[in-house]
Amino acid sequence: MSIPYFSASEEFGISDDMLTAYDRDGVLVIENAISQAECQRLINRMDELVDGFDASEHRSVFSAVTNEQKDDRYFLESGGEIRFFFEKDAFDESGELQGDKHAVLNKVGHALHDLDPVFNAFSRQGKFEKLVKALGMTEPQLLQSMYIFKQARIGGEVLCHQDSPFLWTEPQSCIGLWFALEDATLENGCLWGIAGLHKEESPRSRLARTGPHETELKILNDQPWPEENRQALEVKAGTLVVLHGQFPHLSGPNNSDKSRQAYALHLIDGLCEYPSENWLQRNPDFPLRGFQ
Ligand code: FE2
Repeated sequence: MSIPYFSASEEFGISDDMLTAYDRDGVLVIENAISQAECQRLINRMDELVDGFDASEHRSVFSAVTNEQKDDRYFLESGGEIRFFFEKDAFDESGELQGDKHAVLNKVGHALHDLDPVFNAFSRQGKFEKLVKALGMTEPQLLQSMYIFKQARIGGEVLCHQDSPFLWTEPQSCIGLWFALEDATLENGCLWGIAGLHKEESPRSRLARTGPHETELKILNDQPWPEENRQALEVKAGTLVVLHGQFPHLSGPNNSDKSRQAYALHLIDGLCEYPSENWLQRNPDFPLRGFQ
């Protein structure tokens, strides 16, 4: 059975059919969840933030394939910052940036929702609070935000993974809100996912700190993700894809001429324990906040 698409109702209510689909599939696709004006506001604001980023200062790469950020301080200390990560092919052999910085960034993270007024206002809308509470969160905490560029021609592949291994809580509580700011298609690297596997007892891996500036992905279940039943989630700009933390998902490289920009916000339940081994840590003087 294929993953159904729902349309956002005016008051952003969540119907019984939507709850049933989320529980069954581990994913919920809600079209027109945000307006085209909201998409454009975030795109424009990110453009300004990138304008203000000095690309000569940091040359950190984020790659979900090579995983070279795993021992990178700039990455590991970005939980309470707004930091900029390049595509792995952004630099030539001599280390020179290839082209305009705007066209070769992979993502920006991970506290946009707390530090930037535009992303803060967007992320803390009552309609999203209502949604995650309807999905079972008691005390939603906004943990991580990422602006994902998936640049034309250079936007890298993201292998099949779950999000809970990176945002572990006891018990598991992670929910991702993934907003398409541009149309996501087969050509420009839309999301794909495998419905139903979120019901496995535990996430299949766990990223843990093994030192102050080192992490290791521990494999808890080494079964390969099945090749069959992978469904493409082609969506229009303005669509919200809600991801259960254990929903396996991936996206292909972008070989097209169009970027596929998205904003992803991850929440956890404040009632759950947040381990000190997790890669993402916040300073005690800059604690996580909920929707207020
Ligand atoms: Fe993910």
